[in-house]
Amino acid sequence: MAKNYNPYDNMLSVLENAAQRLDLQRKDYEMIKYPERELKVSIPVKMDDGEVQVFDGYRIQHSSSRGPCKGGIRYHPEVDNDEVKALAFAMTLKCAVVDLPYGGAKGAVKVDPAKLSKGELERLTRRFTAMILPIIGPEKDIPAPDVNTNAEVMGWIMDTYSMLKGYSVPGVVTGKSLEIGGSLGRPEATGRGVSITVSEALKYLKMGDAPQKIAVQGMGNVGSNTAKLLSQMGHKIVAVSDATGGFYKESGLNIEAILVYQREHNGTMEGYREDGAARITNEELLTCACDVLTPCAMENQLTEKVAPNVKARLIVEGANGPTTVEADKIFLQRNIPVIPDILANSGGVVVSYFEWVQNIQNLTWDEEQVNNMLSKIMVRSFNQVVDIAQEKQAPFRIAAYMLAVSKLVKAKKIRGVFP
Ligand SMILES: NC(=O)c1ccc[n+]([C@@H]2O[C@H](COP(=O)([O-])OP(=O)(O)OC[C@H]3O[C@@H](n4cnc5c(N)ncnc54)[C@H](O)[C@@H]3O)[C@@H](O)[C@H]2O)c1
Repeated sequence: MAKNYNPYDNMLSVLENAAQRLDLQRKDYEMIKYPERELKVSIPVKMDDGEVQVFDGYRIQHSSSRGPCKGGIRYHPEVDNDEVKALAFAMTLKCAVVDLPYGGAKGAVKVDPAKLSKGELERLTRRFTAMILPIIGPEKDIPAPDVNTNAEVMGWIMDTYSMLKGYSVPGVVTGKSLEIGGSLGRPEATGRGVSITVSEALKYLKMGDAPQKIAVQGMGNVGSNTAKLLSQMGHKIVAVSDATGGFYKESGLNIEAILVYQREHNGTMEGYREDGAARITNEELLTCACDVLTPCAMENQLTEKVAPNVKARLIVEGANGPTTVEADKIFLQRNIPVIPDILANSGGVVVSYFEWVQNIQNLTWDEEQVNNMLSKIMVRSFNQVVDIAQEKQAPFRIAAYMLAVSKLVKAKKIRGVFP
């Protein structure tokens, strides 16, 4: 990941654009540019060899204007403060776009979890939880999984928080296992939301009823569920990739077989073989022959270098921040619509919200109910964004920001500036 690129500055420039189109005065949106609280911790971990290693950890709360802060925790060796700030800001906007009563936050630990034993990872997670404990909680800030964290990590966070409180607090995190208060439908929720968004965009853009050729970058939680659900809808998944590279097959890859292979090989596709499938790099995936491209891996993937060569007719962002501002301009000139992250990948936080609602009320909902409610929210939010895009002649990203920023500004105005 090129580090001369600052994801937070990227978002501030989109915010300025949206604020101007909304005719906002600077005093109305100035506060939105700054996170409310940034906590940096140094996490000591007893390693298996008896040594102690210290890892950097972050929890950044961007806004609590519309409700408690909400956002995932990422484990990644290249993560830094600006990246976490940008991701926290994106959560504030995302929760506003889909109208959840939440603000935004994000957390991260600078670590390559693949280099840690299970025991080391658990000790790291528990110590990190203890160190951010004063600022998290079901009424304050509710973490969830993100890159390289999962239901198991959420279980350790929930247990550590509960032990230190002295009673069980399932509502402190979402994305947990069902057995400890997780929600049916949560593991697939982000991918399901992306696939619903792809369907709605195909209808809206009148790209035809025929199955589309779709490329999915990243085969983790978001990408694998996106690929699975879109292929179940009858589309051809012509390309997929993970950090080790990807595959291309014009007639469509066997997604079920890839998912089975990943399950049996610790999540990786390395070593997978399929007749007619060519090995490709991640850059080749982004520029491969397809109708729809869904980047579902990391930020800063669609850059000004890659954008001129993209062949897709539609881009739907499963990952957070995969497209740079410069690339956005190129896609606009080339008439390639980009459905932005804060709308397209909001399915995860929507079902996280359902999980939290079930936890704090001691309820359990069935999967059909969860999926139907998710679908309703995704379709409603998509329509609201495209209405603004049409009315204001704005790209979808700017329209989504306009929807979110107008809600945030209203909330801030009603609450006023304390004291
Ligand atoms: N998990 C969620 O519910 C959720 C919700 C909203 C947004 N997101 C965003 O979606 C993205 C993916 O998150 P995830 O939870 O699926 O993470 P994950 O850790 O489950 O999967 C990430 C995938 O990306 C691959 N990858 C990493 N670097 C890559 C590269 N340079 N090129 C291609 N593939 C690469 C990894 O091998 C893995 O397959 C992130 O941007 C995350 O912030 C996740």
